Amino acid sequence: MSKLTVMDHPLIIHKVSMLRDKNTGAKEFRELVNEISVLMAYEATRDLSMEETEIETPIAKMTTKILSGKKLAIVPILRAGLGMVDGLLSLIPVAKVGHIGLYRDPETLQPVEYYCKLPSDIAEREIILVDPMLATGGSAEAAIEFLKERGAANIRFMCLIASRKGIEVLQKAHPDVDIYAGAVDEVLNDHAYIVPGLGDAGDRLFGTK
Ligand code: URA
Repeated sequence: MSKLTVMDHPLIIHKVSMLRDKNTGAKEFRELVNEISVLMAYEATRDLSMEETEIETPIAKMTTKILSGKKLAIVPILRAGLGMVDGLLSLIPVAKVGHIGLYRDPETLQPVEYYCKLPSDIAEREIILVDPMLATGGSAEAAIEFLKERGAANIRFMCLIASRKGIEVLQKAHPDVDIYAGAVDEVLNDHAYIVPGLGDAGDRLFGTK
């Protein structure tokens, strides 16, 4: 079973509450998504591997630790995942960014990939897959499947709000993928929206609708 980390930091809880508010406009919504992504990146990268190195301070030589240089990739699920990329990149500027676009076939209801552009060495990278809303879990499950088909073996998933159902679906389908969620809501409505959630994350980010 994969690990689920739900953020319990006051700053994140506060900012997710602002995000949920229907009176929060697109500009502020984007800023909040960006800020929450930075804060969550801190938690989602807690277990990155480190190595010892020798440096010299102005006072003395010392042995210290730095990141071991394992390469990272940030992969947003289009389109709402795009809103989380800059926040992550501000903490991990050397990460490459891949993109996955999915739509749900209206007849089969299965997710279909319509766009996929990944770093060529994706199989060697630690991947942070991002989508603000983990609702039914279908898109995240499919995106992880697509990544694994291309050789990816080290994937973590980050979202702003997860539903219980989405977590269950993802943990069952991909028990090797740890989940980082800004908050967890219990219910999905008949249109597969998270309740209370925040509405349509893509529309709120980009001011559409
Ligand atoms: N996607 C969204 O943007 N919002 C939801 O509540 C569910 C899926």
